Amino acid sequence: MHYQSVSAAPEVLLRPITVPHKVLMGPGPSSSSPRVLAAGSLPLLGHLHSEFVQIMDECKAGIQYLFQTQNKMTLAATATGHGAMEMACGNMVEPGDKVLVATNGIWGSRFTEMVRRHGGCPVIIEKQGKAFTHDEIERALAVNKPQLMFITHSESSSGLLQPVTNLGHLCHKYNCLLIVDSVASAGGVPLFMDKWGIDVLYTGSQKCLSSTPVPSPISFSDRAYQRFLNRKSKPVSYYFDLEALANYWGCDGAPVRRYHHTGAIAAMYSLRESLAVLAEEGLVNSWKRHADCAERLRNGVRRLGLELFIPEPDHRLPTILAIVVPPGVDWKAVSAHFMKKYRLEVSGGLGPTAGKIWRVGLMGYNATLQNVDKFLQVFQESLKLQGYSPSRL
Ligand SMILES: Cc1ncc(COP(=O)(O)O)c(C=O)c1O
Repeated sequence: MHYQSVSAAPEVLLRPITVPHKVLMGPGPSSSSPRVLAAGSLPLLGHLHSEFVQIMDECKAGIQYLFQTQNKMTLAATATGHGAMEMACGNMVEPGDKVLVATNGIWGSRFTEMVRRHGGCPVIIEKQGKAFTHDEIERALAVNKPQLMFITHSESSSGLLQPVTNLGHLCHKYNCLLIVDSVASAGGVPLFMDKWGIDVLYTGSQKCLSSTPVPSPISFSDRAYQRFLNRKSKPVSYYFDLEALANYWGCDGAPVRRYHHTGAIAAMYSLRESLAVLAEEGLVNSWKRHADCAERLRNGVRRLGLELFIPEPDHRLPTILAIVVPPGVDWKAVSAHFMKKYRLEVSGGLGPTAGKIWRVGLMGYNATLQNVDKFLQVFQESLKLQGYSPSRL
């Protein structure tokens, strides 16, 4: 044995971990409640222990409520939002499939890339910072005849809310299935998977649910599951294979659940508690709370003489608000002031909106009127430091 030749333990790990308390009011993750964090520190269970399976079942019921769906194929992928996106793509897209990707920010671009990697043929319709109308979508469906369509309900890079009401029914008219990304909206904005005919819907846990970034809720309609069963080839990803995960989650009615991967045990406890918080508050009350906070913030921003990035009021996302950076103001310095003096996170833009906007997240645990007032007070202070003098102050 050459014990002497072992390298030294890293110095940094011989000190206690330091995690400052910050209020996360960017586009995500949002801060977790103490209750959700406490759940994550409960003792680990085995991933197939009956008590853990029970918690998975409770999560499944909570996700069905969150998405307003009765779908059997409802579960949470052991991954962040990107993983759920990859799972949606990988199980639905086969080589050669035509996928209509409605892009109005960065998420459509990312899905396009995933479609390509899975051998599909993306057909892109693009509109930056603006929502697609049903007429525009219908034209694209009629002309391109895709097998699948992807759209982002909540474009977090620009604060855009894309209406998807009944969009699935429109897609079905053209023999197309609809995949919707609701990472920044589920729980904070009205969303009805079954009523609106959505075939694959996923979200993240760290935004309106205020849980840890993993796992990510996802649900497949009967139509989507049928499409999966009719695949000519197996999905490329073993990890995200719907058949295996459906069994692990008890969605397939099989008498035995088999080991597929070790579930994110502690994170699942947190997800369960975040869904319990939602169930106790009620979805409608949660949607209203997010809408009230957003309204208060928008009014405050207007009083400061600033402009909201999304011009159309009905297309402004209540969960992530985008404020235009006025000329002569250094957006980074404003965000830095929030963080340095108040440990409060407010982000800049992303992708096409980088440098043009601030993004303020009011999601889940953080969506309170007190947080809005705090934000507005600090915002005014930071803008003054930047020499900004609003005409309407
Ligand atoms: C709309 C949207 N989709 C997908 C994602 C990806 O989620 P994650 O960063 O958890 O992988 C995000 C993350 O911000 C998002 O806002």
